[in-house]
Amino acid sequence: MSQTVTHPLVVTTSRHDPRLSGRGLVKRYGSTTALAGVDIDLGEEEALAIMGPSGSGKSTLLHVLAGVLVPDEGAVTLRGRRVERLSERERSLLRRGRYGFVFQHGQLLSELTALENVAIASMLDGEPRAQAQELAVQWLAALGVADERDRRPGEMSGGQAQRVAVARALVTRPDVVFADEPTGSLDQATGQDVMRVLTESTRAVGASLVVVTHDASVADWCDRRVDVRDGLVVAPQHAVPADAVPADAVPADAVPA
Ligand SMILES: Nc1ncnc2c1ncn2[C@@H]1O[C@H](COP(=O)(O)OP(=O)(O)OP(=O)(O)O)[C@@H](O)[C@H]1O
Ligand SMILES: [Mg+2]
Repeated sequence: MSQTVTHPLVVTTSRHDPRLSGRGLVKRYGSTTALAGVDIDLGEEEALAIMGPSGSGKSTLLHVLAGVLVPDEGAVTLRGRRVERLSERERSLLRRGRYGFVFQHGQLLSELTALENVAIASMLDGEPRAQAQELAVQWLAALGVADERDRRPGEMSGGQAQRVAVARALVTRPDVVFADEPTGSLDQATGQDVMRVLTESTRAVGASLVVVTHDASVADWCDRRVDVRDGLVVAPQHAVPADAVPADAVPADAVPA
């Protein structure tokens, strides 16, 4: 990776550098070493699957890459910016403005409607209420859950709630979307359906995507897959064959401008 240092916190990168990278990432919890020196790259608009057994460090890696956790050692770089050196407040602003998150369940606020759940993500990113609500309506429509707008998460199916969660993650047009077991509480068919809208709508806004999963059929929706064992990336960062990536399901022009 060619880098020109212009400021302690700013590194200008060449066109071919990854959008997000981790180098030598170490994270310990007491005597447990969750990450033992991980190197990982996420390309421009790339969808990357992270697989591995329970306890291998997948969620820890996702949280370190996303600036939720600070590594004990190593560097996280987003578009030339050293994330792990930022203050807590700067990382919080980065997460709200530049990142989207989709978890297994529970990230939607249970007292808010689908519309409010999506609108609040824009409002936290500085969008005025009226515009935020208009954007939320457009995103719910793009994700096929327009009819759910006035329902609370408890009144939706698991698949509908995940589509709302994808709308919420994408409404700020993030650089990177992080998904930890996004299909973990869905049946097989609904999980595939959610992966289809997640990968296609993420691609449509030009975001890169990191998906942690136990399920190879979920990983197959991504461009590339890495395997984590005992806090290390063990498998070569091999590409998924192009014909394994399903055709576009959410056309770019279906996504709100
Ligand atoms: N907050 C914490 N405090 C102490 N240990 C932790 C904490 N979070 C994770 N660990 C430990 O770090 C290791 C990696 O955990 P992590 O959650 O990253 O695994 P994972 O691969 O996501 O597992 P799973 O597939 O079960 O979600 C495990 O040994 C776990 O017990
Ligand atoms: Mg996990």
